[in-house]
Amino acid sequence: SVPQIASILERSAELKSISRASDLAFSSSPAAGKYQGGRILPQSLQGKNVAVIFSKRSTRTRVASETSIASLGGHPLFLSSADIQLGVNESLFDTSKVVSSMCDGIMARVGGHEEVELLAKHSRVPVINALSARYHPTQILADLLTMLEDPVIGGTSSASLDTLRGIKVAWIGDSNNILADMLVAFPRLGIHLSVATPQGDQYKRDEIVWQDMQDGLKEETSYEKGKVEWGNDPLAAANNADIVVTDTWVSMGDESQKTQRLKDFSGFQITESLLQKAGAKKSARFMHCLPRKPDEVDDEVFYGPRSIVFEEAENRKWTIMALFDRMIGEWKY
Ligand code: CP
Ligand code: NVA
Repeated sequence: SVPQIASILERSAELKSISRASDLAFSSSPAAGKYQGGRILPQSLQGKNVAVIFSKRSTRTRVASETSIASLGGHPLFLSSADIQLGVNESLFDTSKVVSSMCDGIMARVGGHEEVELLAKHSRVPVINALSARYHPTQILADLLTMLEDPVIGGTSSASLDTLRGIKVAWIGDSNNILADMLVAFPRLGIHLSVATPQGDQYKRDEIVWQDMQDGLKEETSYEKGKVEWGNDPLAAANNADIVVTDTWVSMGDESQKTQRLKDFSGFQITESLLQKAGAKKSARFMHCLPRKPDEVDDEVFYGPRSIVFEEAENRKWTIMALFDRMIGEWKY
């Protein structure tokens, strides 16, 4: 819900600032003088074991998860499909029953979305989606925190979502799991979303996601909801945008379609010249969940002054830490 998103973001900002203050306390830099006294991260996972079950590759989500669990005093168990019997020699039902009988929480990166739903259904402990083919919810929490912190977009570290109302986010790319979570999160927070995907059936909207978005919009709010526009023209999408976002054109699981996809996305690479031609705001920011390929965005934008991709990547840690703190730390049998 909107209040849950707001509360997790608030906790993320808090944990980030506690950690920064602790770093300063132990650093020899002149800024150490600003440290305001003895705060360390809460040990809310002390004595808790968290299974990090990943059947796909990961840099950010894995590092954010394992380090957050350890920083909150818990013990992470990284289990790849090469390590455990994940749906290969054993059903997901059996895996869920067994792992949840020994651990206090599960962070799971899977193939089809039904896999994480099945794990959650049969688990006796909380299960967090660390990416499925349909959704990547923890990514969007990091994106929101990054938008809030950006001096141009949000300009606040107090994590008040009010500052994001009415901004326009342009998605120029694939109809994939990252876009799906923007669709279910942004409009109900009052953020407008303008989407450009290539033509063709596989780039159309996912009807299940669309329904989830509509259901979310039924939640009552005191402000106007964001509008969603969907077309095939990157220039129209980026017009007057405050933020331009893209992602890989070939998500994990789509590798066999790579050649066709590179053709389908012709004209979709984000460049300065595209942004200027489209009439994106002069101050427009660029975001990308990473990992990035130069196909979808050139170096000038990716490493340029608009880009907030590395802030976004770091915020995976603080938002995932807040989720663990709230969902596993405060959770009891
Ligand atoms: N953004 C993201 O989820 O990155 P990883 O796949 O490296 O975890
Ligand atoms: N859409 C990408 C996101 C990676 C974080 C994928 O699913 O591979």
